[in-house]
Amino acid sequence: MNGETGPLLSAIRKHGLGRSNLIPILHEIQKEYRYLPEEELRNVAKIMDIPLVDVYGVATFFTSFSLEPKGKHQVTMCMGTACHVRRSESVLAAAKRYLGIEPGQTTEDMLFTLETVNCLGACAMGPIVVIDGKYHGQVTPARVTKLLQDVADAERIPEHAEDRVAAIP
Ligand code: FES
Repeated sequence: MNGETGPLLSAIRKHGLGRSNLIPILHEIQKEYRYLPEEELRNVAKIMDIPLVDVYGVATFFTSFSLEPKGKHQVTMCMGTACHVRRSESVLAAAKRYLGIEPGQTTEDMLFTLETVNCLGACAMGPIVVIDGKYHGQVTPARVTKLLQDVADAERIPEHAEDRVAAIP
């Protein structure tokens, strides 16, 4: 076991070692890392005394779990029928163009993960994009680009900020 067990140990303290707590514990680990690292799944198996194959079985069964690292910001585009007829394809194309990735991928800087789903249950608002859990309705290609740009801008150090910090006596 390595030193990467902080989130696991605190999840076990919170939920207990019982096998029935495996799912909430995996959720806690994923919340910390934004995915389920292999090393942590091995640690879960050892500490909870559950066969590794069973831990992987649960981790791969639920779509809410990911075995791949995810970006800091999750972008989910609805491609369901109601959104499709309102031109969600062109919104997705704009998001792909801005991010330079395909659905299911994460940007190299680990800032964004782009995913598509078939319905988000808010069809009347389509086309819908969800960014970090926030729903945006009636989205156009220009608007999705602006939304993504705003998130990216908020992550960037303002222009000349480093020079200004260096200039502080
Ligand atoms: S089809 Fe997009 S929210 Fe239902």
